[in-house]
Amino acid sequence: MAVRHLRGIADVGVEGLLRLLDLTDHMAEVGRRANPKVPALRGRTVCNLFFEDSTRTRMSFDTAAKRLSADTMTLAVGSSSVNKGESLRDTVETLEAMGVDAFVIRHRSSGVPWRISEWSDASVINAGDGWHQHPTQALLDLYTIRSERAARGAEGFEGLRVGIVGDIRHSRVARSLTEALGLLGASVLHIGPRTLMPPTPLAPSTDDLDAALADLDIVYLLRMQLERIDSAVVPSGEEYSRRFALTPERAGRLGEDVLVMHPGPMNRGVEITVDPARLTGSVITQQVTNGIAARMAVLFDLLGGVDTDGGSAAVGSGVVGL
Ligand code: CP
Repeated sequence: MAVRHLRGIADVGVEGLLRLLDLTDHMAEVGRRANPKVPALRGRTVCNLFFEDSTRTRMSFDTAAKRLSADTMTLAVGSSSVNKGESLRDTVETLEAMGVDAFVIRHRSSGVPWRISEWSDASVINAGDGWHQHPTQALLDLYTIRSERAARGAEGFEGLRVGIVGDIRHSRVARSLTEALGLLGASVLHIGPRTLMPPTPLAPSTDDLDAALADLDIVYLLRMQLERIDSAVVPSGEEYSRRFALTPERAGRLGEDVLVMHPGPMNRGVEITVDPARLTGSVITQQVTNGIAARMAVLFDLLGGVDTDGGSAAVGSGVVGL
């Protein structure tokens, strides 16, 4: 059954994740067409509200909405009435009065998507809230894992060994991905300095990347989220790279079917000192591409059950809304 909001992984659970992954397959097929556009969300309006910087998430939500023929509104927060002291609630209610079916919200404070869903009748999609959740990143990551492993003759998530490396503590990506992988039966290991682990563990952890590497199917690198760190958590960037970066030497020890992933933005020379373009296992570009299809799937799932003329919006046999 479709859900109303996607604020965190708990909004969808296992059944919802599997449904969204299958739906992403259909949307990826749409994306491969000469004209990658379908009328599935004609008459619907998606409003992008990004109170924090973004390249991938904002652009892919915008593209996803347009490929589904939805109308889009994007608030340029820096030149909006937020600068005159307008509250978040008044901003949301003002935009809703213009006719919004879904808010896509990124905010530096954890929990903001839940607050908006109390104030508004529109669907709410969390595009990243503080250190907390980034569920559409987890969905595109799961889809990338599933499709890239299938291309290499492997199936399913059960028993998959995923090492998430780096700044786990401040990472909403790690939080959502760990939760989603756990629901699907994968085993997650957090790897990084003790100072960058969350106070309440989300998964088993180690600070020995070299020992962990041999037992991983996926190496998922994170950047140091300096915008969320207000004290010295590692002795130096050089020391961090020496112990936790994917170096050419470490990359050379990975099995040929091991996937290397990164949500972006990447800090080359810090968490990765090898050129990912030279790694056969790197699927970092595919993650970005799959972000559009995954976000189309989410928008369709939340808004596409009934079209604006009262009929059902069809999904199936690779045809969406046609
Ligand atoms: N992965 C991710 O959320 O990237 P952006 O900050 O560029 O959206």
